[in-house]
Amino acid sequence: MGISFNVKPGGVVGNEVTGEGALFAQAVAEHEVTELRRHFNIAVLAGDGIGPEISAQGVAVMDAVCRRFGHTVEYHHALVGAAAIDACGDPFPESTYEICSKATAVLFSAVGDPKYDHNPEAKVRPEQGLLAMRRKLGLYANIRPVETFPCLLHNSPLRADIVKDADFVCIRELTGGMYFGEKLEGDERAYDTCLYTRPEVERILRVAYDYARRRRRHLTVVDKANVLASSRLWRHVAQQMAPEYPDVTTDFMYVDNAAMRMIQDPRFFDVMVTENTFGDILTDEGSVISGSMGLLPSASTGTGTPVFEPIHGSWPEAAGKNIANPIAQILSVAMLFEHFGLTDEGAAIRSAVNASLDANVRTPDIQTPGHPAYTTAQVGSWIADCILAR
Ligand code: IPM
Ligand code: MG
Repeated sequence: MGISFNVKPGGVVGNEVTGEGALFAQAVAEHEVTELRRHFNIAVLAGDGIGPEISAQGVAVMDAVCRRFGHTVEYHHALVGAAAIDACGDPFPESTYEICSKATAVLFSAVGDPKYDHNPEAKVRPEQGLLAMRRKLGLYANIRPVETFPCLLHNSPLRADIVKDADFVCIRELTGGMYFGEKLEGDERAYDTCLYTRPEVERILRVAYDYARRRRRHLTVVDKANVLASSRLWRHVAQQMAPEYPDVTTDFMYVDNAAMRMIQDPRFFDVMVTENTFGDILTDEGSVISGSMGLLPSASTGTGTPVFEPIHGSWPEAAGKNIANPIAQILSVAMLFEHFGLTDEGAAIRSAVNASLDANVRTPDIQTPGHPAYTTAQVGSWIADCILAR
């Protein structure tokens, strides 16, 4: 098996770092990362809709980086979502779980199929595959950076002077709240329970504080403590922990206000941390700042194998058309390398992505009028070639 530990530059998130991991962490600290040759065992979960098309580009970029930096990589493809329901009736089959749990990391693409969206009677749904994966792999921390690309400022429906230089990270709690709380689904009554325990809140706040320490040291805890009991627990725990991080400014914001502030003044935020449902909603809103949902990657970490995936969905209308933007998936590969302390590898991907934007090698969602639009595969191979050409 490959790397079985989670190391981040300047901190450790997830599993304890011991044995081989400790040596690796030490090497990272000594800036010897480029000397290291790693073996990656990647579980590839392409899923539905545009998933397979963007997944192929993520793999192409992973290959390019491994070739350039001397790492080796093996891929294990596994079913998830509607593709898995069609094949075996389960959106996250046991065989997929086994492949994921043995992997160094999971490269995930998208799940979702309209034939389930409009069928309230459906017993299983593709999205349950994603939720089962998060729960079974213990992925409680979802890291969603919101960044802008100078050459794409005009792409946002928000004014360029508002979004310019916006750069924040949303840390979304991923295995609690209404997504996983007790539910009742009746014809006359239905409910979802937003349940959080102190340890669940504490561990996600620690991840958020670690991020804040590596960034501009400003943490905004987003909640709805004026109404919700679960939010009051979040706020209470955060207030108790804040003195442990005197170097970080902690502030609190109600989620409705945060939703407004994000588009009025996105530069206000550095790191925001919030519960599962609020984080789901706010990160879609965040993609508007970047100008396209096709640009934002994410990492989900916790106790098991980390997962790297775009924040966008399966965009079924575009499936098979070779028009989806592969950048969110490709930047997820950058986050994968960075997660293991391989920052040069991450930087190589980021600079190739920027070069593709500068060269106007872009999919239709972000192409400048007057320039031809490139296909998903063309953008992916251009970026992979650019990584190898340096
Ligand atoms: C996301 C998605 C998922 C979520 C869906 C597909 C279940 O919207 O990752 O943000 O709600 O978490
Ligand atoms: Mg979402």
